Amino acid sequence: MQARRVAVIGTGYVGLTTGACLAALGHRVVCADADAGKVERLRRAEVDIMEPRLPELVEEGLAAGRLTFVQDTPAAVREAEIVFLCLPTPMGSGGAADLAAVEAVADEIRAVLPHGCAVVNKSTVPVGTSERVAALLGRPDVSVVSNPEFLREGRAVQDFMHPDRLVVGSADEDAARLVADLYAGLDAPTLLMDAAGAELTKYAANFFLAMKLSFANNLATLCEALGADIDDVTRGIGHDPRIGGAFLQPGPGWGGSCLPKDTHALLTVCEQAGVDFPLLRATIETNLKHQQTLVERVVAGCGQPDGSLRGVRLALFGLTFKAGTSDLRDSPALAVARALRERGAELYAYDPALSETRPDLSDLLTLTATPEEAAGGAAACLVLTEWPHFHDLDWEAVAGRLASPVVHDFRNFLDAERLRRAGLTCRAVGRPV
Ligand code: UGA
Repeated sequence: MQARRVAVIGTGYVGLTTGACLAALGHRVVCADADAGKVERLRRAEVDIMEPRLPELVEEGLAAGRLTFVQDTPAAVREAEIVFLCLPTPMGSGGAADLAAVEAVADEIRAVLPHGCAVVNKSTVPVGTSERVAALLGRPDVSVVSNPEFLREGRAVQDFMHPDRLVVGSADEDAARLVADLYAGLDAPTLLMDAAGAELTKYAANFFLAMKLSFANNLATLCEALGADIDDVTRGIGHDPRIGGAFLQPGPGWGGSCLPKDTHALLTVCEQAGVDFPLLRATIETNLKHQQTLVERVVAGCGQPDGSLRGVRLALFGLTFKAGTSDLRDSPALAVARALRERGAELYAYDPALSETRPDLSDLLTLTATPEEAAGGAAACLVLTEWPHFHDLDWEAVAGRLASPVVHDFRNFLDAERLRRAGLTCRAVGRPV
């Protein structure tokens, strides 16, 4: 593998993982971020996201001189052979991906890109963005390549180093090969295609994953109605390799910084292409409906005659969108919390990844320092994130604090028998009541 000079613009979890891992593979990487404070912290190997092994890789890269951090984007790209754009593409108006950051950087680097370099889009972008970036750059000597990432938060380094596949798309085959060769040290099939195919692959992958989850959550509701156990059914179907057993664990709906944003953005892509994709709409709607079903279950369990939750205190265990991250973006736990709050509930929440002071959450709930504190006087406890730590809680202590001995295990991961011994009734999703 030939060591290359790489620039990475944007040091979010995708950019920083890409930069640190490429440095670990032997490349010389300059990462740029507009946030001066963040650049300072990264120069001291202080990583402010929860990503296993990432701080160590940053530290090693810095020590080896293969990884540097700058605030000045043009300075970062000046010597680069390959420039990665790892920029946020949040949900914009009407659900479409907002490309303002990608466009602003394209504008900023246009004049300083070295002759013949490749610009790689790692950000999740609508089909046609590579062409748009190429047009914005207006540099016939610079090729634009789409190389989407398939990293999961909380497992980003592991996923980078052990990918299922590498997808590299460009009209310029030489540029695509140059980018693919960066990963020569990794053991994974490389799929070369055009840019449109690579861009759509990313959306299709996240849509398919979301579809599997909506399927599993709906199936869980059916299991409850029929007296079957969702775990039996997903095990039963998952052994068929055409279906696969992964990503079928029911929960409080799917969330996070990617699946909701990308499914909505794909919906806009479909509309703009004049293609109706009912399965995509159903996938999104099922997620919302599933959350409403769970909320109604809590409301019914509280048994207030007017169907409200006024004056009812509830304990929420877990707020992040999944375990292993401190990320709250589009967290299903927060969606459930909002719906409960609208019904009048008073919410006390404990999450091991969150400190007690979160002014952004103060209108919605009160964060506590311990699970027992959250449970104090609550009519029910809702487990919303599958933190392993909850499995081994002192459930007797929690039972002693609850006003009513009810636990809703919305992640289906607690040991119901263990909770029963602690005097608690545990209701899971998709299991016979
Ligand atoms: C997702 C994809 O899994 C990655 O492949 C992709 O690269 C990434 O988005 C992205 O586009 O950047 P991530 O957002 O980290 O990764 O989260 P997931 O692990 O996929 O979980 C998404 C949601 O589904 C979470 O709310 C999680 O709790 C839920 N989930 C996941 C379930 O409810 N059940 C499962 O069996 C799996």
